[in-house]
Amino acid sequence: MKLKEMLKDELTKREIRLLPSSFDVVGDILIFTDFPKELEKKEKIIGEKVIENRKNINVVLKKTEKYANEFRTPVLSHIAGEKRKETIHKENNVRLKLDVEKVYFSTRSSNERLRISKLVKEGESVLVMFSGCTPFVCVIAKNANPSKIVGVEINPVGHEYGLENVKLNKLENVKLINGDVREVVPSLNEKFDRILMPLPKSAENFLDTALSVAKKGTILHFYDFLQEKEFDLAKQKVLDACKRNNFECKILDVVKCGQYAPYTFRISVDFQIV
Ligand SMILES: C[S@@+](CC[C@H](N)C(=O)[O-])C[C@H]1O[C@@H](n2cnc3c(N)ncnc32)[C@H](O)[C@@H]1O
Repeated sequence: MKLKEMLKDELTKREIRLLPSSFDVVGDILIFTDFPKELEKKEKIIGEKVIENRKNINVVLKKTEKYANEFRTPVLSHIAGEKRKETIHKENNVRLKLDVEKVYFSTRSSNERLRISKLVKEGESVLVMFSGCTPFVCVIAKNANPSKIVGVEINPVGHEYGLENVKLNKLENVKLINGDVREVVPSLNEKFDRILMPLPKSAENFLDTALSVAKKGTILHFYDFLQEKEFDLAKQKVLDACKRNNFECKILDVVKCGQYAPYTFRISVDFQIV
């Protein structure tokens, strides 16, 4: 049942029109991403109706601030249901345990995670920079057959959930490191077959770090937020970084993998060192 129908007896027509249409569901937690101020006094009724009507939801939260900090974590306030922010989310054959306020996680990237896992060839070594609570690591390890995956995450809470998720999904050949990729990656002293950079907005500041562990044949996935007419800018960032690091590269693909804002897309530039 739609939210509007659920609440037709509790809210006025004006309030019904104001109801938020955008929300995320992580495990059994529903998060309103843009809850209108005008409905604050009715938020408990709205949250309780959601729980009453959706069997899989036990907690309702609303986002009050977006990913502005280094860990990209949101500020979430409780509206209804159980008073917790930890849950287990299922996607692409894996289970991911996380606290939705202490760790960045977006269900909207699940197709992208599956896409990458399908590209990983048998025996590849994979580096996941900015690994968070390890959704990319787990989806790749579960759905492909790499020889090893290394994940690096600066948020200690994200790292701890990552360790737990590796156990939860009974994964092997995974190594997780808590720290800043700028310090950790150069100290790894090894080159990788595939490198993921899922930190749109600022991944370009880390291209030199990623290229320090690349070799001939390495495939990199560089994420950015751009409007369609700016996609060439992302390619240029990649070409400039390769030139700076004395590498030649081939752009394999520019993939739209989500919408960030009206007309602005999350994109991946897939490129290979040749
Ligand atoms: C956009 S989130 C992506 C997380 C995860 N890969 C996912 O898809 O859910 C970016 C992550 O990068 C981490 N991060 C930011 N700067 C970092 C750095 N310098 N070194 C390591 N991790 C960093 C943040 O804490 C955050 O968890």
